[in-house]
Amino acid sequence: KESKLWGGRFEESVTDAVERFGESVSFDKELYKHDIRGSRAHANMLAQQGLITDSDRNSILHGLDEIERRIKSGEFEWRRDREDVHMNIEAALTDLIGEPAKKLHTARSRNDQVVTDLRLWCREAIDEILTRIRQLQVALVRLALKNEGLIVPGYTHLQRAQPILLQHLLLSYVEQLDRDAARLINCKDRLNFCPLGACALAGTGLPIDRFMTAKELDFTAPMRNSIDAVSDRDFVLEFLSANSIAAVHLSRLGEEWVLWASEEFGFLTPSDSVSTGSSIMPQKKNPDPMELVRGKSARVVGNLVTLLVLCKGLPQAYNRDLQEDKEPLFDSVKTILGMLEVSTEFAQNISFNRERIQRALPAGHLDATTLADYLVKKGIPFRTSHEIVGRSVALCIARKCQLSELTLEDLKKIHPVFDEDVYGFLGVENSVTKFISYGSTGSSEVAGQLRHWVSKLSIA
Ligand code: ARG
Repeated sequence: KESKLWGGRFEESVTDAVERFGESVSFDKELYKHDIRGSRAHANMLAQQGLITDSDRNSILHGLDEIERRIKSGEFEWRRDREDVHMNIEAALTDLIGEPAKKLHTARSRNDQVVTDLRLWCREAIDEILTRIRQLQVALVRLALKNEGLIVPGYTHLQRAQPILLQHLLLSYVEQLDRDAARLINCKDRLNFCPLGACALAGTGLPIDRFMTAKELDFTAPMRNSIDAVSDRDFVLEFLSANSIAAVHLSRLGEEWVLWASEEFGFLTPSDSVSTGSSIMPQKKNPDPMELVRGKSARVVGNLVTLLVLCKGLPQAYNRDLQEDKEPLFDSVKTILGMLEVSTEFAQNISFNRERIQRALPAGHLDATTLADYLVKKGIPFRTSHEIVGRSVALCIARKCQLSELTLEDLKKIHPVFDEDVYGFLGVENSVTKFISYGSTGSSEVAGQLRHWVSKLSIA
């Protein structure tokens, strides 16, 4: 067995169980590109500061290129006894170029190294998620464009509430996704500070230039406090929080579409390409992808909770517990990317069943609130209007009819203020045209929202 990089003070090597328990290379090799990028910047800085020679720097850079090539091509041998991605790369560099490699870790610790890698990794991951969020927004806006004028029942408490335009509903998800994106952008701005050079926790007595490495790695600036730099994973917590909120939004979309695809609703039909069957019931066609979107949100939320609990008992500065930050982070990112991708494909492959929706609209007195507004326009106080319409609805329930089917005589018996013009307010088609408030389901308001998104998302 080769001796560890810290071999000097040790007489025995670790037991097999300790090695297996403590290794992280099996998952943190995911960071290799960022680790190499950080090492390049660090080597350049060491040379500029006269801490290593230019020739040492050149061999380190060539060695790192070769190692990166080997990792990409699958030739690289990841060794468990070398513990993590950082020591695997450093030890392989030493195997490859010899002495100069031993200077790379000057004024650096794995503590600042790992968190630098992680910040670089998160930055990239956030950009990928942002791209997918935009794709889903585009798919939802296109779906809205395809379904102009379609009125659907709007629900509160999952009970029929008021008529709304389907476009309005779809755009509500687009708005939510936009805030998810904004949270991620905000998180990226806040995490974009460079821990490199914090070393183990206290910084170093060697004349390094942290501003140079921060700049080369496209960070806004070096982190001000070296203890903070290696201690905290709040940026991961923020990232996973933002992911969790997005995942909850997607889960709700999933739930709605699963419900709408049921026989009971029958409002939408997914194409076969986004549905799966049953191994026993030959007739089945299930909206599994959206059920899984709903289901996988649990992981994303769970990963956030894991990280919160991981961090809560840690004194400053680095503690080995922090090695446990990576798997939940990687899993959350992979999961949310999949959820976004599949939701986008689902949105591209569903059709709304106009006829079923049409048949569903008369039930539930969706026009009742519009009728109350009618009475308000006639000068009746709203509370009284509410009462009058309530009694009108009760009459409909007794007669098993709709508000629009009551005669003017019936209505006048309830209140004399009703007039012939009331019929212009009844029925979902009339009712939906009456909305005029900013952000409402009125057609010109919805058209305005749609124009906003078409332009913001540059949809042709
Ligand atoms: N694999 C470790 C981690 O992920 C790297 C840092 C280890 N530092 C240490 N002092 N043992 O956290």
